[in-house]
Amino acid sequence: MSSPTQHSAWQALAQHQQAMASVKMTELFANDATRAESFKASAAGWSLDYSKNRANTDTMKLLLQLVEQAGMKSAITGMFKGDHINNTENRSVLHVALRASKAQEALMVDGVNVLDEVRNTLAQMENFVTQLHSGEWKGYSGKKITDVVSIGIGGSYLGPKVVTEALTPYKKDDIRVHFVANIDGSDITEKLKLLKADSTVFIVSSKSFGTLETLYNANAARAWCIAEGVPEAEIKKHFAAVSSNVEKAVKFGMAEENIFPMWDWVGGRYSLWSAIGLPVAVAVGMNHFYELLDGAHAMDEHFKSAPFEQNLPVIMGALGVWYSNFHNAQTHALIPYDHYLRAMPAHIQQLDMESNGKANLVDGSGVETDTGPIIWGGAGTNGQHAYHQLLHQGTRLVPVDFIAPLKTHNPVADHHAQLFANCLSQSQALMVGKSLAQAEQELRDAGATEEQVAAIAPHKVIPGNRPSNTLLTEQLTPFTTGSLIALYEHRTFVQGTIWGINSFDQWGVELGKVLGTDIYNRLVNDTDNSQLDASTQALIAAFKTAQ
Ligand code: F6P
Repeated sequence: MSSPTQHSAWQALAQHQQAMASVKMTELFANDATRAESFKASAAGWSLDYSKNRANTDTMKLLLQLVEQAGMKSAITGMFKGDHINNTENRSVLHVALRASKAQEALMVDGVNVLDEVRNTLAQMENFVTQLHSGEWKGYSGKKITDVVSIGIGGSYLGPKVVTEALTPYKKDDIRVHFVANIDGSDITEKLKLLKADSTVFIVSSKSFGTLETLYNANAARAWCIAEGVPEAEIKKHFAAVSSNVEKAVKFGMAEENIFPMWDWVGGRYSLWSAIGLPVAVAVGMNHFYELLDGAHAMDEHFKSAPFEQNLPVIMGALGVWYSNFHNAQTHALIPYDHYLRAMPAHIQQLDMESNGKANLVDGSGVETDTGPIIWGGAGTNGQHAYHQLLHQGTRLVPVDFIAPLKTHNPVADHHAQLFANCLSQSQALMVGKSLAQAEQELRDAGATEEQVAAIAPHKVIPGNRPSNTLLTEQLTPFTTGSLIALYEHRTFVQGTIWGINSFDQWGVELGKVLGTDIYNRLVNDTDNSQLDASTQALIAAFKTAQ
């Protein structure tokens, strides 16, 4: 895999950027009456308006050439057929298999039809969910289960949590679903306060079954159950696990019949479609979980087969590269105008930053370009009263994705029209800005003196020409939630492929884990810390003194 700078399209884009530097998006609209229509694409329930970008048809042509030259077609084919594209772990990357169409009979990976395993696990999940909701699954004292607590972290937490929250209008009301992730004891303590052990089931979700936070919280949950009167022999009525390491889960004390498998070919941050999504299925029921998978599958089909000029993940990925690498944008914001999607930026942050926060090409040599930007964001309109100031007048360029449903699940007076108006006005304001002349006129119209005009007007200038995408859907449903998340998964892959990196490993998180174990030993034992740096020594001493 060569550096993207070797591609002729990369060099052409660098030149083209200079030609575009002084071009205003407002001029692009003024000069092309069809721009809003032609810079638009749709798929799987979502329509993307990418007309408010610093891009003309030449830009898009060059970006798509870059996508071609990066080998996107064969990368997509390779992923879907199970090639070991995660080269540093020698693994296939097959989250798409988790949502494959029922019509597909086989997907052979290393001699195994993975679709059989996926379908068996879905059947196992369906059985579990049915038993919980019907009351057939009972706690040790014979009570129906009223609460399910998912224990997991990272990819074994964020995806299921975000989707469960997004699908709140579809929740079944007989079972509440909670999430515990942090090793901070306050997390589990606060959740346990809401629960009764005899009507609670814990799902311990850990692909490796070796993650410190999850094992600590699982142990705490087990100890709490026993303290609350669950007999040791009955503990299996209150625990299930999802893991690709069944052996470790059994060793931990999980009953084998309550362990749901997952596989090496599913990356943690891409795993919500597997049994890691069990909390979602419990919360909204299996039929809605299948609709979620169908939505993701529809986006997969689009990604696989749509021409690049109409391909949402390709267009969004290529535009992201345009800003990251040719406009020095350091971050990318996701701003859903939907309360139910308020946590989505955190999931996409993990998905993208753990995937594309890399400094080596696939062959191990160092990259010559920037790779993944910092992904951040939060729900509109809340952000407008917090960080949007920087988006409008700050010195940094922050490309934004606005995400909004056209219809609300909760009509309250005309709140939804106001919400939607705010979404549109933000992208409009980012693009049009406000000139000095406009600011001066505004002040004069308000009766300001010329001295006041001169002093205040510069502060009211908004540069504008700041880019955004707008993604719209009819309504947030299981289907459109699935397709939205799959869109961002593929966008991440598109960018990783352009940069020539492996988006599917995460070696960078290991060092912190190793050093954490060493420091922990120093906190709880008497150790000679004199070889450590003075700062770490003092911080360790502060902890020990406080205990
Ligand atoms: O520390 C990072 C990470 O390995 C993620 O990639 C993963 O989703 C998370 O930890 C949790 O891992 P596991 O599911 O194995 O507990």
